Amino acid sequence: MSMASGVAGGRLIRLAETDRAPMRFFLDGTMCLGLAGDTVLSAILSVSPMLRRSEFGPEARAGFCLMGACQDCWVWQEDGPRLRACSTPLAEGMRLLTDAPRGWP
Ligand code: FES
Repeated sequence: MSMASGVAGGRLIRLAETDRAPMRFFLDGTMCLGLAGDTVLSAILSVSPMLRRSEFGPEARAGFCLMGACQDCWVWQEDGPRLRACSTPLAEGMRLLTDAPRGWP
């Protein structure tokens, strides 16, 4: 897998199924590549050391339960509602944010 420059190395390292079709997404405005079949969480953590910033403090988060129960993996979209990264399939061209957009409650 490859990615655009500007995003640090990932927390997850792909060991298998690296031949799946590449899928483009944007993380904080930087184009990145995930693979078809990725969740948003696996795509982001393959190119970034963190999933998002906590809204309650300075900590970086990377998900916890990985099964849609804990809500630690909320990420924001540039347009549209926030989503649970661990249970949302990656879609071509998604524009994702690691921090809440301005004006978010
Ligand atoms: S990591 Fe727990 S809900 Fe996604």
